[in-house]
Amino acid sequence: MSEVLCKVHRDVPPTRFWGYGGSFPGPTIETRARQGIVVEWANQLPARHFLPIDHTLCGAGRDRPDVRAVVHVHGAKASPENDGYPEDWTTPGRSSLFHYPNQQDATALWYHDHAMGIERLNQYAGLLGVYLIRDAAEDALDLPRAPHELPLVLCDRLFGQDGQLRYSTSGAPDAPWISEITCDAHLVNGKLYPYLDVEPRRYRFRVVNASNSRFYDLSLSNGGTFHQIGTDQGLLPAPVALTALTLAPAERADLLVDFGAARGQKILLKSQSFELMQFRVGTLTGARATKLPTKLRPVRKIPESAAAKTRTLTLNEYHDPQTHRMLMLLNAKRWHEPVTEKPELDSVEIWKLMNLTEDSHPIHLHLVRFQILDRQLFDADEYNTSGKLELVRAPMPPPPNEAGWKDTVRVDPGTITRIIVKFEGYAGRYVWHCHLLEHAANEMMRPFEVVARRGT
Ligand code: C2O
Ligand code: CU
Repeated sequence: MSEVLCKVHRDVPPTRFWGYGGSFPGPTIETRARQGIVVEWANQLPARHFLPIDHTLCGAGRDRPDVRAVVHVHGAKASPENDGYPEDWTTPGRSSLFHYPNQQDATALWYHDHAMGIERLNQYAGLLGVYLIRDAAEDALDLPRAPHELPLVLCDRLFGQDGQLRYSTSGAPDAPWISEITCDAHLVNGKLYPYLDVEPRRYRFRVVNASNSRFYDLSLSNGGTFHQIGTDQGLLPAPVALTALTLAPAERADLLVDFGAARGQKILLKSQSFELMQFRVGTLTGARATKLPTKLRPVRKIPESAAAKTRTLTLNEYHDPQTHRMLMLLNAKRWHEPVTEKPELDSVEIWKLMNLTEDSHPIHLHLVRFQILDRQLFDADEYNTSGKLELVRAPMPPPPNEAGWKDTVRVDPGTITRIIVKFEGYAGRYVWHCHLLEHAANEMMRPFEVVARRGT
């Protein structure tokens, strides 16, 4: 981790970022399932932060060094010591060795900073990158490979006239935290409005939403159909045809886009009304075309009857009377309160995530993969005033493109989103949190602890 200067655009002077391996985004780490790797994460960042730290936030007090970093591989099944617990940060000049066993299916994970109280700033500064896992099941499919396969890391940023990063503040000098950051500059792989020369053939894009708080609604400017073949944690059972795709912060999508009929055209990748990048479709070279697979990888549904426990967990936003600002919590608990979620190792649980707020929150659990059971609307106003739970309409199963393995789930306002999770891999302390980084910083993040089964 070090300070790097990057050209985000031909017409913008070099921008200071913090990157891994001397780049922003960091280098794509490509691994094989069941072949572990060790990474030495060396903190060579400067001694001072260049973005506004809020020392009133949990874990970011003035007694802590300003510059602290710890890497989490998002979606990795890693032991607690190697997972990047938010309090396991190191300071400049130090490094840590982390072991990733890769005992999991092929997918696109991503790695990013997770230091308590400042991860929103560290990630915004550029500490993020893609981590691919490949395996034989994926190899056996006729999918496009490099150079017809590439990651697309999406994130938004604010730039000053000088080409340098800005991060919005509340205006209160001692408490600059803001509840969300929305930016007007859209970067793809660290570039502002880039273009990609493509051939009139099928491409595979490993899309990562690496924004602090932006949701993307992706579509192509020609209204074209594309196919989603994988979710956060791996391949779907079969490709799902889409013309639009919502991606919440931290979610990933494995997409196939066929430019075969678009020779000579320019096609934009868009989100809502703004442009992310342009594809310039040229002519075909010799390489063999790939076909759209009909089957990918079976996803065996975890039966609800397998669940040993069901937990109802609320998502809350309060006006904090002490600080006069918003406070976001999970199940009305602050970070430092005793651990309340202690699933047993290898047990299955259903988590009912009940959103009492007006925002959509992407909820992420470390260590595990899960399946979405359903989403059901309820009357949140009624619940907030009287405590009475009034369900509205029938629960909706996830759409086909979310009916795979997930590690981050969008919990929309006024819904109860049920997920089913098997807590396998390791016992020990992990975290679950909202992946709107400004929410996670104030304190929409909680520890959970996987406990070894009694008697073993
Ligand atoms: Cu993307 Cu706690 O992580
Ligand atoms: Cu949130």
